[in-house]
Amino acid sequence: MAAKIEIITTSDAERLAEKGAELIYNAAKKAVARKDSFAVAVSGGSTPRAMHRLLSQEPYRSDIPWQITHIFWVDERMVPFDHPDSNYGAAQKDLMSIIPIPADQVYPMPAMMRPEQGADLYQAKLKTFFQDLGSLDPVFDLIILGIGTDGHTASLFPGQLLSQEPNRWVLSVKGGQPDVFRLTLTYAVLNSARHILFLASGNAKALIVKTLIEGRQIHLPAAKIRPLNGEITWLLDQEAASLLKEETIASNRVKFEEKKG
Ligand code: 6PG
Repeated sequence: MAAKIEIITTSDAERLAEKGAELIYNAAKKAVARKDSFAVAVSGGSTPRAMHRLLSQEPYRSDIPWQITHIFWVDERMVPFDHPDSNYGAAQKDLMSIIPIPADQVYPMPAMMRPEQGADLYQAKLKTFFQDLGSLDPVFDLIILGIGTDGHTASLFPGQLLSQEPNRWVLSVKGGQPDVFRLTLTYAVLNSARHILFLASGNAKALIVKTLIEGRQIHLPAAKIRPLNGEITWLLDQEAASLLKEETIASNRVKFEEKKG
């Protein structure tokens, strides 16, 4: 079954962060109603940070069921958590240090060991978590993804020769900006998600957004995200959506979110 795709555009980056926080709240409530827990994987980069800061404030600080939420990472740079390039370090500052989430429900990727060892360790942690939920598959309720202008997502980059082990859930790779060793969830995990939320903001992302949504660039990593039993929401500000055809937006149930206030 092809993934259901929805496009939501907002007037600007601030409204994108507000809408993103609202979508995460909705996904959490939906997950908890279904199975009394909410498993989410978050990406790094700059786009999600304003959204993370909103989630740490009221009403989300109180309204999201943090006590039964489990936060994993989509990818991580192999640097210390206090390094400015650390995805966990940024999220810890913006969100986890503020919300009332049990520490053992936050699962940073192990960034200070041999990359292959870190990948094996995180994969084992994922397998244990989902097996404890009674699932042999890594079915996240929500995975938040960014995209690079080259079409990368997570730390899955164009032209990367990934490990041929099809059943890997976590891989160690090198690349991206910064060009460092990284750990990344694989397509097997990303495409098992119930809901993928792509975030893209700014004019610089307009061409890649058009390419990914309207083009046939199926070789690009972000184009390979097609959850088998899930849905994809593209949350774009007006600048990132500026090159999309009117009919593309109209045919994907776009909801134009007017600026609040
Ligand atoms: C990473 C990110 C990466 C990011 C995109 C978009 O660790 O590098 O996970 O995939 O989501 O590069 O980054 P921006 O939001 O900064 O544009």
